Amino acid sequence: MTDLSTTIADRTFSNCMMNAAGVRCADENDLNQLIASPAGAYVTKSATPNVREGNPEPRMKSLPGGCINSMGLPNHGLDYYLDFVLKDQAARPDKTNLLSIAGTTLEDNLAMLHKVADSDFNGFVELNLSCPNVPGKPQVGYDFDRVREILTQVFAFYDKPLGVKLPPYFDLVHFDQIAAVLNDFPLTFVNSINSVGNGLVIDPNAERVAIKLGGLGGIGGTFIKPTALANVRGLSLRLKPEIAIIGTGGVMNGTDVFEHILCGASMVQVGTQFGFEGTRIFKRLSKELSAIMAAKGYQSIDDFKGKLKTFDD
Ligand SMILES: Cc1cc2nc3c(=O)[nH]c(=O)nc-3n(C[C@H](O)[C@H](O)[C@H](O)COP(=O)(O)O)c2cc1C
Repeated sequence: MTDLSTTIADRTFSNCMMNAAGVRCADENDLNQLIASPAGAYVTKSATPNVREGNPEPRMKSLPGGCINSMGLPNHGLDYYLDFVLKDQAARPDKTNLLSIAGTTLEDNLAMLHKVADSDFNGFVELNLSCPNVPGKPQVGYDFDRVREILTQVFAFYDKPLGVKLPPYFDLVHFDQIAAVLNDFPLTFVNSINSVGNGLVIDPNAERVAIKLGGLGGIGGTFIKPTALANVRGLSLRLKPEIAIIGTGGVMNGTDVFEHILCGASMVQVGTQFGFEGTRIFKRLSKELSAIMAAKGYQSIDDFKGKLKTFDD
């Protein structure tokens, strides 16, 4: 029997796989389906302080093995998601879930976190520092001084478990720089990666872009797996061991989950392919990961977590 459970900080999750924020987690119906699935936890759609419509449609296009989106954080507002997680926590006090927050300003993030701090919520907050689709707003995760400023202000009052969702980095110096900032704070986890921002997908027949906002959008799916793995591995080599890593990006099958864990992920999120398949994906991925582990004689994910070999070993 293989054990797919995982632990982050002092919390145990029955399965190391879950949804990624923004995909099929925007309302109660979506979230209840996740609760009924084998996923080890759920994360709610990234919340802003108030209801937000997001960007004009079309804002999402499915591609073979991936997608592009310029959603722009359409969501029901923090109160809706906080109310949901609090009710769920009361009904299932032994479960930990994630509440995603994505203010478009520092003030919005601090106001939302004060509200969460003042509530009974005892799950994990996932602070999204990496939405690539908000016009006029840079991805905070690419401004290292700003990340430090935000985390300094957040941890001045917020003392429950909190992690950050990061954009992909493409330069080794940037890995060093972001890790140096993150290691100065009592983060519970980092989630790497958000969509690869500002890709362009074209409809060659129409000779036109595939989505609005000039055609630019965040890319998810198979195209981004090598970038996601490099980020999970790069952070795993640089972060202090108290900060767990949630690996996200390009997960379509059990091998992809296995690879994320080999790179150091304690938990793995699925976005694009979960959107394609719905909650039944968690049964399939669990079966596929279990088969890989059984074939290799691994009983638990700790048997291979972070143990990627290189030619230098
Ligand atoms: C339609 C869509 C909406 C998304 N919305 C959010 C969001 O609200 N918050 C967030 O942190 N990430 C959001 N993401 C990014 C995903 O959580 C994930 O990081 C990214 O898609 C990479 O994973 P994948 O390759 O499995 O899709 C969204 C992705 C998609 C496809």
